[in-house]
Amino acid sequence: MALSEQRINELLVRDHERIRTTLEQVESMSDEAIGPYFDELCRELVHHETAEELTLYPAFKEHVAGADSIADAVSAEQDKAEARLAELAAEDRTNPAFRQSLAVFRSLVIEHTGHEERALLKVLETHASFDDLVEIGRRYEAALGAASQDQQLDADAVLRIDHRDALRDAMRQAVARAVGASRH
Ligand SMILES: [Fe+2]
Repeated sequence: MALSEQRINELLVRDHERIRTTLEQVESMSDEAIGPYFDELCRELVHHETAEELTLYPAFKEHVAGADSIADAVSAEQDKAEARLAELAAEDRTNPAFRQSLAVFRSLVIEHTGHEERALLKVLETHASFDDLVEIGRRYEAALGAASQDQQLDADAVLRIDHRDALRDAMRQAVARAVGASRH
């Protein structure tokens, strides 16, 4: 996979936008059609969040001295959203209550991505050099590349703990290779 030369902030804003669009699409689908869109939403969220966990959060802590508590607070918010997603996936999608849960979840994601953009990305941008931001972007793209075999997985499969652990390991290795490649 060709690695990007985009900065991490550009890549994450792009992916946040995509996630918000997918959420809107899911909400607009009928009960019969919602399944594949909800599966896609779960894949996008799991891939994005795991890749962020391995690239954005450590980079933020490395470049912004004394700001670990900010990163930890936004990361805890992300964990809460993930737990909520697992609950949502277990709900009956034909029940009207599912629509309400979905709307609440969308607000949670909008709030969380907004926090990440304001509290982490804007701050990281002012502390890391252009080249560092590109380097972190490369790591993020490498992590996402390790998730490409997931494209057929449904929500339940992508959210399973054992799958998430295997995905995190594969992404961690891909990030390590990207770090090694950029040092040669
Ligand atoms: Fe994010």
